[in-house]
Amino acid sequence: LVSEAVREPLPLADVDLADLDNFTDGVTPWRMFHTLRHEDPVHWQPEESPNSGFWAVTRHADIARVDRDAETFTSTRFVNLEEVDDDQIARRASLLELDGVRHRALRRLLQRQFGAGVINSYADFLRGLTATTLDAALAKGSFDFVKEVSADFPINVLARLLDVPPEDNQRLIDWGNRIIGNTDPDYADVLLHSAESERYRDLPFRSPASLEVFAYGRELARRRRGGTGTDLVSRLVNETPRDGVPLSPQDFDNYFLLLVVAGNETTRHTITHAMLALLQHPEQLARLQEDPSLIPGAVEEFLRWASPVYHFRRTATRDVELGGRHIQEGDKVVMWFASGNRDEEVFPDPYGFDVTRRDNDHVTFGKGSPHLCLGNLLARTEIRILFEELIPRLSDIHLTGAVPRVRSNFVNGVKRLPVEVTLA
Ligand code: HEM
Repeated sequence: LVSEAVREPLPLADVDLADLDNFTDGVTPWRMFHTLRHEDPVHWQPEESPNSGFWAVTRHADIARVDRDAETFTSTRFVNLEEVDDDQIARRASLLELDGVRHRALRRLLQRQFGAGVINSYADFLRGLTATTLDAALAKGSFDFVKEVSADFPINVLARLLDVPPEDNQRLIDWGNRIIGNTDPDYADVLLHSAESERYRDLPFRSPASLEVFAYGRELARRRRGGTGTDLVSRLVNETPRDGVPLSPQDFDNYFLLLVVAGNETTRHTITHAMLALLQHPEQLARLQEDPSLIPGAVEEFLRWASPVYHFRRTATRDVELGGRHIQEGDKVVMWFASGNRDEEVFPDPYGFDVTRRDNDHVTFGKGSPHLCLGNLLARTEIRILFEELIPRLSDIHLTGAVPRVRSNFVNGVKRLPVEVTLA
């Protein structure tokens, strides 16, 4: 069983969080995290040139410490592993890569759109959309759960938030794949760190797909400017941030692109991992079938289990001690959320998938950070409604083939989940 293989620690000498080939089997990452938490919880991970290396923070408590202290651990030198110069930072910074007053002002622009009032008002829409998605998929009997359900549903929700037609969905999905999955040969536009990628150095994740997203967003902005719409684009172009500094065209590009990618892959992979976990633990699926009132609690376990975002990075603004190691100003400090979600200090039987787990203090959306996922309530609501609708429809479901993973140490993704279903 998967849960047994992941318990086996990997010798420390074999741990390499920078080698993407370690991130394709769904087992090795967990073995590396296990070793690091126990033997070297704040670990110096060398990287190949042009990067120098980073501190890998693997314990829940240390992740929380880094995430809530934005003064010592800044996001402004970027939040993925790439090393960026001031010029790139000036061009590419989105909400994710700002701190302080400007960050709060830009976050506030959309805060209400992601708050309980607005998200709860989507419940009927989400339930209707789920029913349509599931009925179309389940009628096929045998199908790829990723393509038909996990990818389709979040993108339809995003299309609604942006107020764009569903005909554009496939383009939105492809952009997300190419930008976030850029290190996987199936999706890569231009592989990171290749000589060719220098041409695209000022683009997020250096993927030319970003240019297409910018063009698409600008056209929406042009049409919405001065209007009365309440969609995300209308708010971005028609509201002034609290600090009184309007969004520059570049601010808009970067904000829009963040919205297109942030809620798309992450929610997709959580749904897929949750389905896979239920396939691997039929007794847990049976519990949810017997008692659907357990589903809201189960969503938190889905999120912990899935850990769809392996890591986010910070940069030390001063010399600081962490986990007994001396971190120097300017060092990259990487919070491995996925590892924090298996920390035995916090989670009894962390490799056990338990839909009734209590006090589930997972770090899937971050932990105490000013950057805590803006879309967390939306994601939770989508996932809950999807499984509330799916589970009663199923009599039987089983896997019919291999489950390939995205080659990435950033997003913990599943490309395909072939299943066969019998309806209830
Ligand atoms: C930020 C994860 C879904 C929009 C974040 C961060 C994480 C995260 C870990 C914090 C990044 C940091 O600390 O630097 C996830 C996961 C999701 C999910 C696991 C699904 C299961 C969504 C959705 C949306 C969204 C559905 C909206 C459509 C954002 C935005 C930010 C963010 C805008 C930036 C917030 C800021 O910098 O203040 N997300 N996310 N996310 N997320 Fe999500």
